[in-house]
Amino acid sequence: MQGRTWGLRLLLLLGLRLGSQEALPPPCGSQIYCHGELLRQVQMAKLYQDDKQFVDMPLSSAPDQVLRHFRELAQTHNLSIPRQELQMFVQEHFRAVGQELQPWTPEDWRDSPQFLQKILDPRLRAWAGQLHQLWKKLGKKVKPEVLSHPEQFSLIYSRHPFIVPGGRFVEFYYWDSYWVMEGLLLSEMPETVKGMLQNFLDLVQTYGHVPNGARVYYLQRSQPPLLTLMMDRYVAHTNDTTFLRDHIETLASELDFWTKNRSISVSSGGKSYILNHYEVPYGGPRPESYSKDAELAATLLEGNRDTLLAELKASAESGWDFSSRWLVGGPNPSSLSSIRTSKLVPVDLNAFLCQAEGLMSNFYSRLGNDSEAAKYRNLRAERMAALKDVLWDEDKGVWFDYDLENEKKNLEFYPSNFAPLWAGCFSDPDDVDKALKYLEDSRILTYQYGIPTSLQKTGQQWDFPNAWAPLQDLVIRGLAKSPSAKAQEVAFQLAQNWIRTNFDVYSKKSAMYEKYDISNGGQPGGGGEYEVQEGFGWTNGVALMLLDRYGDRLSSGAQTALLAPHCLAAALLLSLLPQ
Ligand SMILES: *[C@@H]1O[C@H](CO)[C@@H](O)[C@H](O)[C@H]1NC(C)=O
Ligand SMILES: *[C@@H]1O[C@H](CO)[C@@H](O)[C@H](O)[C@H]1NC(C)=O
Ligand SMILES: *[C@@H]1O[C@H](CO)[C@@H](O)[C@H](O)[C@H]1NC(C)=O
Ligand SMILES: *[C@@H]1O[C@H](CO)[C@@H](O)[C@H](O)[C@H]1NC(C)=O
Repeated sequence: MQGRTWGLRLLLLLGLRLGSQEALPPPCGSQIYCHGELLRQVQMAKLYQDDKQFVDMPLSSAPDQVLRHFRELAQTHNLSIPRQELQMFVQEHFRAVGQELQPWTPEDWRDSPQFLQKILDPRLRAWAGQLHQLWKKLGKKVKPEVLSHPEQFSLIYSRHPFIVPGGRFVEFYYWDSYWVMEGLLLSEMPETVKGMLQNFLDLVQTYGHVPNGARVYYLQRSQPPLLTLMMDRYVAHTNDTTFLRDHIETLASELDFWTKNRSISVSSGGKSYILNHYEVPYGGPRPESYSKDAELAATLLEGNRDTLLAELKASAESGWDFSSRWLVGGPNPSSLSSIRTSKLVPVDLNAFLCQAEGLMSNFYSRLGNDSEAAKYRNLRAERMAALKDVLWDEDKGVWFDYDLENEKKNLEFYPSNFAPLWAGCFSDPDDVDKALKYLEDSRILTYQYGIPTSLQKTGQQWDFPNAWAPLQDLVIRGLAKSPSAKAQEVAFQLAQNWIRTNFDVYSKKSAMYEKYDISNGGQPGGGGEYEVQEGFGWTNGVALMLLDRYGDRLSSGAQTALLAPHCLAAALLLSLLPQ
């Protein structure tokens, strides 16, 4: 069985495509990396500080052989294998992490991309140059042995090299990659972007959806759907209509996955709407966070455990793992055991899909396929109506997640509440002014180091006091698109705050982080399941986007912003001198 599944993966990677959905393998059958006694014993023994380490280790021989040796060991010890024996077993049968990847310098990387010249503050320009250099550190390529022996790796083979987030995240991730690609396009690296896009399209062809990340243990879930947007950015940059034509059907099948596997019917005001939610129909602990999940599940009655574990996976699918967003309305909203991700209809997910439907409609028009263009135009119109009727709140002037069980909106502040502005999925121009007022009413503008993820301090990483780059982008570009001068000015101020936090922390630590703690003057973030990670793909991408857009106005700090009067006078005099 094991061999057949792996064999199938190999065939698929070699280019044989499946004709129908039914033939897809079940997401992750590996008895080593996804399920089974070996995984359970090793992870529950906590041989490593981070459970992800074990499931990232390549095998040193065929899985059947490793499993046979494990069964023998288990029998010898009547299933309770001493920790030391387990450690020796892993040392003997597994290899160190990272062996399957090699560093890769992008071939299209070059010095001095144009946008650097637009950054007037010399310290910010020098910093942007260093961020541009980081692509070379974050570039990775899969070794050929993963193609010839896929069964010995949890890493999924990718034909093209890619940029990773960094730190413990040595493989590529779905929604991270969108902001990475925005940065790469500014760095004038469309060939790298095209390769990464091709990798994602291959995953859709093989598995029917884009997994959370490029590891078999991520196959049971996806992540926020931004593939269509990635294609749009690439095509806008290159005019590569051929690439679009070749892959339009794969983009359509990714959206079909969200329709078939992640739709939910919502009744509101006597009408019925179809919207989307995050939902993973598989129990069992997440292999890469096995012991934490299992220990949490053990606090529940046995009959409730798989539901909890599936909800944890759905939260990982949302990208917000974990957050008060998914704990709201449960019996104990401060505990992860209350998690109920699938019971919420998220604003951001539906805004992303609304945008994707609009882009698909444009793509099909560009390719001269009017009937498909009309189909997606209608889907978008239906979703816009649902966003307005179900998620928009006229009193507060913004959109909120809808709680299906309690039949009400979650009125807490989250930057994701602004996603329809960012995605252009609203029809009333006044909505921007209302959302701006909501931002002011929530006192968000009093946070000087970045927009917080929420106003609730749960200890989870997607809550206060952490701030994340993609969420800054959602709000900033949402407001910046507005014709209102005031909204645009607030967008700039928020960009200035975030750039200063990123820059100050970089000046002290020489590193970019996945998230920032904005409560103490801006520092690397904390909380959640693992240590804060350096790198960092999407943070770099968003910083480059803001430096590009506002490079003529951004300043690196109070020192340069407030020039002493005599310097100002000198600068003025110099500028008046004849050349
Ligand atoms: C093995 O474990 C089972 C159940 O825990 C126990 O009944 C049995 O006696 C054990 N056998 C040996 C040989 O220790
Ligand atoms: C793409 O093509 C359009 C229409 O031909 C043209 O207006 C635009 O400038 C082109 N963009 C790029 C980046 O080449
Ligand atoms: C999506 O649904 C199909 C049909 O029920 C199923 O075969 C497939 O495994 C599902 N995909 C995921 C990732 O859950
Ligand atoms: C439009 O796209 C659909 C779906 O890919 C395809 O079945 C149809 O043949 C296309 N029509 C035209 C005119 O290209």
